[in-house]
Amino acid sequence: MTPPPSLAVNGRLVSLADVPDPERLLDVLRWRLDLRGTKEGCRTGDCGACTVLVDGRPTLSCLTLAHELEGRSVETVEALADDPTGRAVQAAFRDAGALQCGYCTPGFVVALTGLLKELGRSVPEERLLADLAGNLCRCTGYLAIARAVRLARERAP
Ligand code: FES
Ligand code: FES
Repeated sequence: MTPPPSLAVNGRLVSLADVPDPERLLDVLRWRLDLRGTKEGCRTGDCGACTVLVDGRPTLSCLTLAHELEGRSVETVEALADDPTGRAVQAAFRDAGALQCGYCTPGFVVALTGLLKELGRSVPEERLLADLAGNLCRCTGYLAIARAVRLARERAP
């Protein structure tokens, strides 16, 4: 018998047998798995609030269908407490005062964690800032976020 389609979320196997196709990864995470750290902003790929890691790469969960990810590995902001780079990035946002309402923060933290793990801490700061250009914040004015990026890059393991 063929096993039901599944994907891994934060290290746990999740069956997609009851998930209609198409259903967005964002909805599976928030409403089926109760992982509300992944935020729903625009739902059109324009704000970055819904960013998760798919096989380590920052990915917009509002534009990704769950069934497209069969056999793949998804990490959400909830998993970053167990990750040294994720912890360094979260602490950098805290120490730089890089959040106000916090709605955009999980997307920034997840994306920056993925970038630092993929590119290493020797990556130029400008490259990180350019790659984060798709993450929008309507509160902070970005200066504190840029400070957090610098701090995270310095502190990343
Ligand atoms: S909710 Fe996905 S990019 Fe805005
Ligand atoms: S802190 Fe409010 S949207 Fe960024």
